[in-house]
Amino acid sequence: MKILITGGKGALGQDAQKIFSAHGHDVLALDREGLDITNEAQVKELVTREHPDVIVNCAAYNLVDKAEDPAVYPIAYAINALGPGYLARAAKLVGAVFVHVSTDAVFAGDKPEGYVETDVRAPICKYGESKAAGEELIEAVQGKYYIARTTRLFGAPATSADAKESFISIMMRLAATKPEIQIIDEEIGRPTYTPDLAQGIYDLVAGAYPFGIYHLVNDGPGVTWYAFAEEAFAIKPTTTPRIPVPAAAFPKPAARGKFVVLQNTKFPPLRSRVEALREFLS
Ligand SMILES: NC(=O)c1ccc[n+]([C@@H]2O[C@H](COP(=O)([O-])OP(=O)(O)OC[C@H]3O[C@@H](n4cnc5c(N)ncnc54)[C@H](OP(=O)(O)O)[C@@H]3O)[C@@H](O)[C@H]2O)c1
Repeated sequence: MKILITGGKGALGQDAQKIFSAHGHDVLALDREGLDITNEAQVKELVTREHPDVIVNCAAYNLVDKAEDPAVYPIAYAINALGPGYLARAAKLVGAVFVHVSTDAVFAGDKPEGYVETDVRAPICKYGESKAAGEELIEAVQGKYYIARTTRLFGAPATSADAKESFISIMMRLAATKPEIQIIDEEIGRPTYTPDLAQGIYDLVAGAYPFGIYHLVNDGPGVTWYAFAEEAFAIKPTTTPRIPVPAAAFPKPAARGKFVVLQNTKFPPLRSRVEALREFLS
């Protein structure tokens, strides 16, 4: 099959490229300079020329706090909402399957029992609003689509221009350079390893699962940022003291949900988060 991957230099984009190539598919992975997903004409031209069987959209605007800035939000909306809509339309035009990656931030994060795939979107920050709008635009196209929601990605760093450092990489860096680390002991979620998410996306497509929304997260209980860091430090010990603090200790422009645990009720569980962490940190 011919696979078009957008956001090819992003953290997930790189792993998606690896997994589809490893299965012998013809992969065309492009980043912003190869395909700007916010350029509708370019999207349509490239997709009709290349005629992929599957499009995997790994492009995104992920700077959650910056997206709160009214001057920046139109950019986030273009990348996270309009672009996915253009891709979904182009995919439908050529009969391709469209895979889009979304986020727990489409939910309010106030449901301690976690969110299932059919729960109603109710974002509380501008990033979440843009991603929720992207999901809606894709659904409106009524093509062959998968929306894979995930959370708190960790893995090999992206090589793209605006790459965001993952939480685990930040923790390892701080442990090596600071006398102590304060870590938020709130905001419960289910961090996910990018190679496992890429594998999940591959399995979704290869397994011809029914189209729709899926929650792809590493298996394991929801954890606060502090508890997640402790899982990592149990594998890669440090003598640097870690201090659990409330979220209020680090005020941020964008609101964060207190409970953003994505429940996967439709797909075989991805492997355990601790196993994934062990692989990542080895
Ligand atoms: N990272 C997380 O913790 C997290 C959590 C939940 C969900 N997600 C979702 O998971 C997906 C993958 O995230 P990630 O962490 O792999 O993201 P990432 O590393 O930030 O990669 C995103 C990629 O998109 C590219 N891009 C930005 N604007 C573009 C445009 N207009 N056209 C084409 N490419 C463009 C970026 O390139 P430049 O750097 O050059 O702009 C970058 O290579 C995203 O949909 C994200 O919303 C991520």
